[in-house]
Amino acid sequence: MTTSPVIYCAAPDCGKETTSSLKCPVCLKQGLTSVFCDQSCFKRNWALHKSIHNKPGVERYDPFPEFNYTGKVRAQYPLTPKRIVPDHIAKPDYSANGQPISEHVSDRSGKIPINSEDEIKQIKKAATLAREVLDIAAASIKPGITTDELDEIVHNATIERDSYPSPLNYYNFSKSVCTSVNEVICHGIPDKRPLEDGDIVNLDISLYHNGYHADMNETYYVGEKLSKQAINVVETARECLDLAIKHCKPGVTFRSVGDIIEKHAKQNNCSVVRTYVGHGIGKLFHCAPQVAHYARNKSPGIMKPGMVFTIEPMINAGSYKDISWPDDWTAVTADGSLSAQFEHELLITETGVEVLSARNEKSAGGAVKRI
Ligand code: MF3
Ligand code: CO
Repeated sequence: MTTSPVIYCAAPDCGKETTSSLKCPVCLKQGLTSVFCDQSCFKRNWALHKSIHNKPGVERYDPFPEFNYTGKVRAQYPLTPKRIVPDHIAKPDYSANGQPISEHVSDRSGKIPINSEDEIKQIKKAATLAREVLDIAAASIKPGITTDELDEIVHNATIERDSYPSPLNYYNFSKSVCTSVNEVICHGIPDKRPLEDGDIVNLDISLYHNGYHADMNETYYVGEKLSKQAINVVETARECLDLAIKHCKPGVTFRSVGDIIEKHAKQNNCSVVRTYVGHGIGKLFHCAPQVAHYARNKSPGIMKPGMVFTIEPMINAGSYKDISWPDDWTAVTADGSLSAQFEHELLITETGVEVLSARNEKSAGGAVKRI
């Protein structure tokens, strides 16, 4: 049995117990609930009450008030406590202390793994599960939901599939998914910021199942207010990845992928982020090859059957330059312009390329027409 909690009027000069259902609409949008006895309590106290909106204090606050943010997105703390992964789920080496030692060891060899048939089978299984998780989380995107709530959805859907959320504790990353809104390029930490109508948000899902990682991401439109600029950067990023994939097959150099991506980005008045790259994946979350997304890069290596890697271009509406927030994770555009990203996980086959992270008829999101 549950009893309903006693509710007190949020008007400082009243504070009496109330059964009213009159809630401050601004608070609701910000994930808070403030109840007032009636319109009179609400109006009389509005000047005082509104000071809790978007202010450090009661329920959420900007942890970096002195930081020179480049755009309008603000970190919204407190972060929620670390989510639990049940004991029966197999965990990658870094889950305990944050250090992916096996990746350091592999990096020293510089070799691009060639996966066996059995390894490919396992990698495909992990990718199928990650696609399910991405689609579940994407279907929940709407104005008002916080990125932390999306993290909870991702975390639960991942462990329901006997998988470990790969971001969790990777170099001490504290959440189970990366959520990157508007000018955030990548590695956004889920927090208490509610999504707003007109935002764009990238969900970057990775999981570890039965000894193999999967990794994929998409950028989604939030609500109905799609701006021309948002559509251009998101659709350009989507097309850049699709064009790059068409180009993949045995014998192709990894460095040429960036030439294709940057050409298409430029044709659409966008730029390509240089700091973050695609990567090999399988037994390790990140390994060789490195796949740079910009033109005339020097990424070594040639595509061969059995190689599995990601291509994940980050495309900016303005300058390609990035900076990081004081959390040392969140990468944002230096000029505050919008940024969009798409990531697929690819297998090189004897005859071409297979997209292991492919969308299906039920996948949320997808391309829209430019306006
Ligand atoms: N999923 C990201 C990628 O595409 C890596 C995220 S690392 C994390 O490679 F620690 F931020 F989660
Ligand atoms: Co990746």
